[in-house]
Amino acid sequence: MPHARLPDLSFGGIVFMTAAHTTSAEPHPLLSVRNLRKYFPVRSDRVMGPRLLVQAVDDVSFTINAGETLGIVGESGCGKSTTARLLMHLIAPDAGEVWLAGRRLGDPGGFTLRELRRNMQMVFQDSYASLNPRLSVQDSIAFGPRSHGVPKQKTIDKARELLALVGLDPNQFGRRYPHELSGGQRQRVNIARALALDPILVILDEAVSALDKSIEAQVLNLLMDLKHDLGLTYLFISHDLNVVQYVSDYVLVMYLGKVVELGSVDDMYHRPRHPYTQALLASRPSMDPDIKLEQPPLIGDPPNPINPPPGCRFRTRCAFAEGVCEKVEPALTICNAATAHAVACHMHIAGAGHSRSV
Ligand SMILES: Nc1ncnc2c1ncn2[C@@H]1O[C@H](COP(=O)(O)OP(=O)(O)O)[C@@H](O)[C@H]1O
Ligand code: SF4
Ligand SMILES: [Mg+2]
Repeated sequence: MPHARLPDLSFGGIVFMTAAHTTSAEPHPLLSVRNLRKYFPVRSDRVMGPRLLVQAVDDVSFTINAGETLGIVGESGCGKSTTARLLMHLIAPDAGEVWLAGRRLGDPGGFTLRELRRNMQMVFQDSYASLNPRLSVQDSIAFGPRSHGVPKQKTIDKARELLALVGLDPNQFGRRYPHELSGGQRQRVNIARALALDPILVILDEAVSALDKSIEAQVLNLLMDLKHDLGLTYLFISHDLNVVQYVSDYVLVMYLGKVVELGSVDDMYHRPRHPYTQALLASRPSMDPDIKLEQPPLIGDPPNPINPPPGCRFRTRCAFAEGVCEKVEPALTICNAATAHAVACHMHIAGAGHSRSV
């Protein structure tokens, strides 16, 4: 029986599991995220206008098992990076809970912020901005362990080992500066830097998106090798469905701050249920000709995340929208218990009142 991906009792009776609740036969959720929310206040155009809120991340829940990769996909602005920043506590959530290896920030016996950031590392899209231009590559990689009190020579030795691990000869590259490297080489350095503190979870936010296709493939292969060799767990964020399919075990699709579908890579790419997921797949340049989709490719832009439409947030672009879609927000609901596939669409909720409801 595959492990449920939703850490919330309210979703189809799925049992929430932290390390403390997990029996030995069950896979261990390394990361559990429950009901995470972030609304950003923004200025109104009008003087004395109403207080406006961008609903960037709204009630997001998921889990990642140790050793697995969860891919997060969705169009620009759907809340992927905000989710990552919330997990890292780079910004404070308005609501929600995050457990890493069964421990929470600030709980008695839980993580301090420093411990959390050591165990959870992030690689961003912009390889140049992430590196200090005044530090050599090996000093950049050594910086994290140094700031955690590891003796200098040890940190340099480890940095050079990590450079070799990410495919850069330490003798050739160790003393170079970021501007002397290509984008792909810089991203390899960023990956080495993220690994320097032996994290248990690595968040990759559009980490390969800025690279040329051939370099992107090389860095993706490196990430897959590292995951295998070091037993890493990834949260892999990208707008590119092909890349997410290649690296992920499970995939979460976001739309306007909400999770609309969550399932195994096989379910998501071969049996997508949500019209948005289907439209995203239909819109990608090359796709499997065997997949027969009812949905035309995605057209138009998502609505404004300030005061999004009530009910289903996708309804303004959905070919199947009916009255119920405007009135009732569809809950993320299991549509295949055997594979823990979940979807937030009235067509897949029994008795939801949609003419196509199962
Ligand atoms: N600091 C912020 N202040 C106001 N709005 C923000 C802020 N950060 C992100 N947003 C908004 O939140 C939404 C989600 O953004 P983001 O998480 O960056 O999306 P993605 O990474 O999926 O492209 C967008 O509408 C974005 O404009
Ligand atoms: S709930 Fe309604 S509007 Fe939303 S995706 Fe399903 S059919 Fe379309
Ligand atoms: Mg982003």
